[in-house]
Amino acid sequence: PDLFGANRRNARGWDLTDARDLEDIAKARGPWADATFTAAPLIAGTTTGGTPYDARNPARPEDCLGSVTPASAEDVQTALHAAREWATDAATRARVLRKAADLYEDHFGAFFAILAREAGKSQLDAVGELREAVDFLRYYAGQAEALQHPARGVFTCISPWNFPLAIFTGQIAGALAAGNGVLAKPAEQTPITAHYAAQLLLAAGVPRDVLQLLPGDGATVGAALTSDPRVAGVAFTGSTETAKLIQSAMAKHMAPGAPLIAETGGLNAMIVDSTALPEQAVRDVLASAFQSAGQRCSALRCLYVQEDVAEEFERMLFGAMNELRLGDPWHLPTDVGPVIDAEAQAQIADYIAQSRAEGRVLHELTTPAEGHFIAPVALRVRGIHDLTREVFGPVLHIARFKAADLDRVIADVNATGYGLTFGLHTRIDGRVQHVVDRIHVGNMYVNRNQIGAIVGSQPFGGEGLSGTGPKAGGPQYLARFTVAKTGSVAR
Ligand code: SER
Repeated sequence: PDLFGANRRNARGWDLTDARDLEDIAKARGPWADATFTAAPLIAGTTTGGTPYDARNPARPEDCLGSVTPASAEDVQTALHAAREWATDAATRARVLRKAADLYEDHFGAFFAILAREAGKSQLDAVGELREAVDFLRYYAGQAEALQHPARGVFTCISPWNFPLAIFTGQIAGALAAGNGVLAKPAEQTPITAHYAAQLLLAAGVPRDVLQLLPGDGATVGAALTSDPRVAGVAFTGSTETAKLIQSAMAKHMAPGAPLIAETGGLNAMIVDSTALPEQAVRDVLASAFQSAGQRCSALRCLYVQEDVAEEFERMLFGAMNELRLGDPWHLPTDVGPVIDAEAQAQIADYIAQSRAEGRVLHELTTPAEGHFIAPVALRVRGIHDLTREVFGPVLHIARFKAADLDRVIADVNATGYGLTFGLHTRIDGRVQHVVDRIHVGNMYVNRNQIGAIVGSQPFGGEGLSGTGPKAGGPQYLARFTVAKTGSVAR
């Protein structure tokens, strides 16, 4: 089916194995290599602004890519006062969102530079991120035209630093496509990406009082935007803990039933059984655990390898890990970039140090001295129940299991309460169905990696502690931003 409307497909993106595409990227991105950017509130009114701070490149902290002025408490109130629904027809909204998609693609050079320098995105990740953002804009634009119900009002959209363009854009595009107004709070770590993108959305024709950008922290901006009765609902991607805080603030201050659309954490597992093709499974484990430096909610955290093949499989996996290139994500050969900031680096490093003290390190690479890097590491665990929390970095836990214990493994994974992604490598068809029927996750991946859901064909989102649904990039997403209305006319 043509999910994006007439003649529309998923964005073509850029092919990093094609010399012409690489040339185009180098040319378009070059001028932004040491450019300075700004981020500031974009609101329908005068801003006062908070205390500015420098945005720094996590791979090279001496690279300051710009200055960020967060929103002040007063700015948040000005924005709340000015905010309104997008009172126009669906065809206009769709046209503006498609125009924004085109502008995003036109500005790929700046985006690839900002994504590398602000968020530590490798070129592969930057391409994926821009494609996904463009897909969200076009996909929701197409759905807007088919919507049956009106908007709810003004939505607060709180987005994470790990997909500073794709998820930022997806939330906003969903709310706008349905005719809502948006108050957007991007992650504190990635306001420059958000500011650049918001300017393109405004340039495409989204009215200034319909989309307002409020960079800043959770205490000043997030709390005010999730506890105000003028807000009709909240779209949030981030930690499960924060989602619960938002839920209780909403319950206290907003209308009963005001929707919270939350995408949260995961403790994702993969099973590799003795019938799996080892070369393929190794490649998919590496991508699932270490691409994006493990900073995806979908990332593989706990790998279960069937005991019979475990020794050999682990040997191959550690050999392949040795080939991963850590470094500045600006450069094409880099597989694993930095983690987002010094705080994340310290937390993950502590966890690894503790695991080392417990004698659980199976294999690790060397961490570069400069920048906020964590070298990929593999740790031994008995099972997923040994993982006490989601470690948001390139840390892979490995357990071994006996074929007869498959159902216990499934039960242990379900018992975490999370339910985001799950991977299975097997050549036994009946086993695929057996696992699908029992595992409680939103996204299951068989004989492939378990990251990088595609808008329109792999709607993304989890259950339980991993999120409320509806899935992003799927047919039900927009409906959540609308409200049913019935009319009756007497004649
Ligand atoms: N949608 C991303 C993925 O599938 C995670 O947020 O990897």
